[in-house]
Amino acid sequence: MIDIHCHIMPGVDDGSGNMSDSTEMAQLAYKSGTKKIIVTPHCNVDPHRRNFWDSEMENRFLSLQAQLRLKNIPVEIFRGQEIFLSGGFIDGLRQGRFITLNGSAYVLAELDFRESAPNAYSKLHRLASEGYVPVVAHPERYEFVQEQHDAIYKIKETGSLIQVNKGSLKGSFGFHAQKKSFEIIDTRQADFIAGDAHSQYSRTPVLADVHEFICERFSSEYADFLVKHNPQRVLDNERIYGY
Ligand SMILES: [Fe+2]
Repeated sequence: MIDIHCHIMPGVDDGSGNMSDSTEMAQLAYKSGTKKIIVTPHCNVDPHRRNFWDSEMENRFLSLQAQLRLKNIPVEIFRGQEIFLSGGFIDGLRQGRFITLNGSAYVLAELDFRESAPNAYSKLHRLASEGYVPVVAHPERYEFVQEQHDAIYKIKETGSLIQVNKGSLKGSFGFHAQKKSFEIIDTRQADFIAGDAHSQYSRTPVLADVHEFICERFSSEYADFLVKHNPQRVLDNERIYGY
């Protein structure tokens, strides 16, 4: 499996606190069948969690890669960010302070949980019109998506893809997020399921249970589509079609 959303970068956001946490998270991912992880620290134009991809961030990434080799944890890591769509995000991408997923056209995009629907569609449309493919992080957690039955359809109309959190399916983010996550999966509107892991203890990087659940409830083809094939297409910068 491949996880396209993981806060495993040590000491930069509310995810892994240090290198030891990061290697434990990678070990846990590996043991449960995840062999590739895109490292996606929170990133924001605003002063809170700027985390631009600068030389310090690059060095941190290289240190993590080196530690995984040193500890014989055969998880391959790739560069990425979870980009909060506040003003200036297009400039950030143009200037290289924000980066796409593994240098592809795919951008892991996060919205304010209370973002209005029109603002959300407009920001995603803007991103898509610049040639990027927005991958909307956990839309099932956003208020407007929970409240408006056609929100996922409208998000997809902007050219965006849908990344459901495994924790939402498990009920970790409450009833409304869980209900919406099931609806997205049931109606085949999901393009990815990702861990959005923040630690080795809770919100972990384990995807095996959710893969098994999708296999049982739907099919192994659909499970593989969500946590193997589409994530690999992101890494290869290949086009993604609906299921
Ligand atoms: Fe995240």
